[in-house]
Amino acid sequence: MLSAATFFLGLFAAVKAQTSVGEWADPVAGVTWTRWTDPDLDVTTGWVFPPLSGGQAPDEFVGIFQAPSSGGYIGSSLGGGMRENLLLLAWTDGKIPRISPRWATDYAPPGPYAGPRITILGSSGNNDEHQRIVFRCQNCTTWVGGTNGIPAEGYGVFGFAYNSFAPPLDPSDINSDVYRHSHIDMFGVDVGAARNPEYSAILNTLTNAPLFGSPAPEPTTTSSAPKPTQSVYGQCGGRNYNGPIDCATGTTCKRANEWFWQCVPN
Ligand code: HEM
Repeated sequence: MLSAATFFLGLFAAVKAQTSVGEWADPVAGVTWTRWTDPDLDVTTGWVFPPLSGGQAPDEFVGIFQAPSSGGYIGSSLGGGMRENLLLLAWTDGKIPRISPRWATDYAPPGPYAGPRITILGSSGNNDEHQRIVFRCQNCTTWVGGTNGIPAEGYGVFGFAYNSFAPPLDPSDINSDVYRHSHIDMFGVDVGAARNPEYSAILNTLTNAPLFGSPAPEPTTTSSAPKPTQSVYGQCGGRNYNGPIDCATGTTCKRANEWFWQCVPN
């Protein structure tokens, strides 16, 4: 008979065999991420970290969560385990991307966690197939408890948590309660290799990328000059006339003769 440990290890290996960590050229954002992916679930979570030299704050990274649109939420532990590590929980609420830093002291619903400064970036959104939450996370690489943070170099352990069917109870509230994950994994990421000297340019590209899955913005006339209006008794029409044809409020353009239309009080 299988011991419980062998059974769970076997299960873990079976799940792990389908997943991988590597570089991914994201066709939507035009950025190359270091990502963990599970092709069967069609979920991805990825990161780019700033270089250690060059003046960029070392406490931040840009990240992505991508999952099927039908998925409830996708999350990660930045320290591997669920307990006492910074957790990020993400979903789209309709087309609105949401991301919520969380903390759990036990294997129980995690509560809100203050400190991280999160900015949703372009190429986030939702279409029939995928939801994407692309973000900048500042003040996100250290915390007290658990592993205490993401290592500056070498391998860090990350955790993945996904609920494939149940969105948060109130998707409009980033602190909403959530149901337990349907899938989890833990994996190592070479954080040093995920540092990119082009971090600032990547941040800029992501900041300016259009939202994902939204209809192309309508061409808009940004500077349509206000229409001139004709004052009372002024000309507003007639043969060869090419001045203003709209009359001031309270007046109407009336024909006097073929050559002269005039704004007269109503
Ligand atoms: C909503 C309530 C939640 C409950 C009741 C819960 C419960 C648990 C339990 C019991 C485990 C142990 C493995 C298992 O039996 O499945 C676990 C693992 C894990 N959970 Fe959660 N979880 C919840 C939410 C979350 C969220 C929102 C995240 C991340 C954003 C998360 C991240 C993880 C990770 C990464 C693991 C694997 C590593 C470990 O075992 O510590 N969990 N969870």
